[in-house]
Amino acid sequence: MSDLSTHPRARILMCAPEHFEVSYTINPWMKPDTWQSQAELLGARSNSGWHKLTDTLRSLGAELEMVPPQAGLPDLVFTANAAVVLDGVALVATFRHPQRQPETAVYKKAFEQLKARGLLREVLDMPAGMILEGAGDCVWDPVRDTFWLGYGQRSDKEAAKLVRDTFGFDVVPLKLVDPRFYHMDTCLCPLTGGEVLYWPQAFETEGKALIEERFGKDNLIAAPEEDACAFAVNAVNIGRDIVLATVSDKLRGMLEERGYRLHATPISDFNLSGGSAFCLTLKLDRASGGRDIPAELDIVSTSA
Ligand code: ARG
Repeated sequence: MSDLSTHPRARILMCAPEHFEVSYTINPWMKPDTWQSQAELLGARSNSGWHKLTDTLRSLGAELEMVPPQAGLPDLVFTANAAVVLDGVALVATFRHPQRQPETAVYKKAFEQLKARGLLREVLDMPAGMILEGAGDCVWDPVRDTFWLGYGQRSDKEAAKLVRDTFGFDVVPLKLVDPRFYHMDTCLCPLTGGEVLYWPQAFETEGKALIEERFGKDNLIAAPEEDACAFAVNAVNIGRDIVLATVSDKLRGMLEERGYRLHATPISDFNLSGGSAFCLTLKLDRASGGRDIPAELDIVSTSA
């Protein structure tokens, strides 16, 4: 039986930014020259911001698991890309760009270790030749038990069928059309209250219509451009708490009106790599059926 009294509000996988930098360009935000010109400052600031993010998540009741950082893999910090995880099953990611492809083996090892500790039930590989960049491109709606899969920039559209067959839930593939919003988690964030925080311009007309239809008019929260471009949609939502980098007064008002508490954290330097709060985390105990933790897993807190 799961022991809910000792279970954290969320169990999250992260990776310390010891080797984080912008040393190559695989999205329009990444400018290695800009990074190099202030490498020391940016390295120190992203590091302290990341630690503040861990403090905030812990203060909200999250328990954090860590992937060991690795030299030469600066984007390993973006653990949202490690896998799609639901009900104790991790489908380990594959990557479009050669720069990130070695991450698959590192993440796989971390998931095997989590499995050995009873924190995952199954660790699955992607079929050869198919690309799916984890939860970064396959975003879960906890209210409707539906995955939203972004394709056209990183992940393959064909991955939708695989995710459907693997997890047994509906998958809506949507084409991402703005190169700045290259992962689904940069432009779509389903919230625990049934709303969706999103950036409509990242989708085609049909995609926008599908979002409107599935979430319903009253649940649409379109981010102001200023917030979308500061990665506010790339937010971590735990219960009524939302953790993000920065938020305008306008968006803050829209979310607080719906009963959410906002936690801005100083992680904006990760914008230089095209990532933010959600990208830096991966929920390991994501569960279907509106449950807090996977019914299939006998997970208890490992904290003393
Ligand atoms: N530099 C990384 C990349 O372009 C950033 C990844 C951000 N992750 C995310 N889930 N959106 O792949």
